[in-house]
Amino acid sequence: MWPVLFFLVTMVVISQGSALGLNGHQIHLLQPKSGSWGLHVPNVSCLSWRLGVETHNIIGWSTVPKECEGYVGHYMLGYQYRSDSKVVANQALLYAQSLDLAGDGKDVWIFDVDETTLSNLPYYAEHGFGAEPYNSTLFNAWVLEGKAFALPESLNLYEKLLSLGIKVVFITGRGESQRNVTTTNLKNVGYHTWEKLILKSSSYTGVTSLVYKSSERKKLEKKGYRIVGNMGDQWTDILGHHAGNRTFKLPDPMYYIS
Ligand SMILES: *[C@@H]1O[C@H](CO)[C@@H](O)[C@H](O)[C@H]1NC(C)=O
Ligand SMILES: *[C@@H]1O[C@H](CO)[C@@H](O)[C@H](O)[C@H]1NC(C)=O
Ligand SMILES: *[C@@H]1O[C@H](CO)[C@@H](O)[C@H](O)[C@H]1NC(C)=O
Ligand SMILES: *[C@@H]1O[C@H](CO)[C@@H](O)[C@H](O)[C@H]1NC(C)=O
Ligand SMILES: [Mg+2]
Repeated sequence: MWPVLFFLVTMVVISQGSALGLNGHQIHLLQPKSGSWGLHVPNVSCLSWRLGVETHNIIGWSTVPKECEGYVGHYMLGYQYRSDSKVVANQALLYAQSLDLAGDGKDVWIFDVDETTLSNLPYYAEHGFGAEPYNSTLFNAWVLEGKAFALPESLNLYEKLLSLGIKVVFITGRGESQRNVTTTNLKNVGYHTWEKLILKSSSYTGVTSLVYKSSERKKLEKKGYRIVGNMGDQWTDILGHHAGNRTFKLPDPMYYIS
């Protein structure tokens, strides 16, 4: 049994080495530690794609590559998405706890809504996890149901920020017409209070999220608020001007908003 296994393992390592062009002696091939027997990493190209998305090297994409639909689905529904979100929320909390706050009620934390405080995973699970082209009619119908659930890691962070005396401001790409349902949905899942809920007014029609969110943050600072932290699932939530003293990017391999 063991000699046979050793032989098989050796063969696989050698053949992987050749495939990587490593049969010279320049690189000592390490045995990858993930995957069954540490020999096979499934869907490595989808993992690379997701890393490219999360690092903002891949931008302006419209749908998840078709061959990565299953990969993204497993990522979102499995423990990895939650674990990755937990790391972000934990870092945000450590940072918030380290702040020397003035205590004058002007310190605010900005949260995005979709895929940040609320999760639309039930919708995306039925629509290819972002592999299907975005359909605004269907998505808005889902939003109007008001059944999005809370991202547990964000809700936990929200509670802790409030207890530190930091006020919460939501800035969302949802339109003004969705104020009521968004308010109800947020309250139903545990976000019981906030300083402001800023929705995209019609004056921003055709304006990118990056520009809209930056200009709303500028208005907040003009009113005397200090944006100590800012968290979103899109890079356009946290890039641009008046981004806040620190920004935190939650994972989202399902869609890209410019
Ligand atoms: C991995 O990728 C292949 C295509 O490259 C796909 O057929 C398969 O369903 C994927 N597996 C998972 C778990 O997503
Ligand atoms: C969106 O979905 C609706 C309902 O299924 C469909 O009638 C419509 O054609 C879709 N729109 C696009 C742009 O695909
Ligand atoms: C807001 O929603 C609540 C229930 O969710 C409803 O009772 C109320 O009439 C709505 N208000 C507006 C202005 O649509
Ligand atoms: C936070 O950001 C503001 C605005 O950019 C800046 O004036 C302030 O010095 C920053 N505070 C800290 C503690 O870095
Ligand atoms: Mg979002």
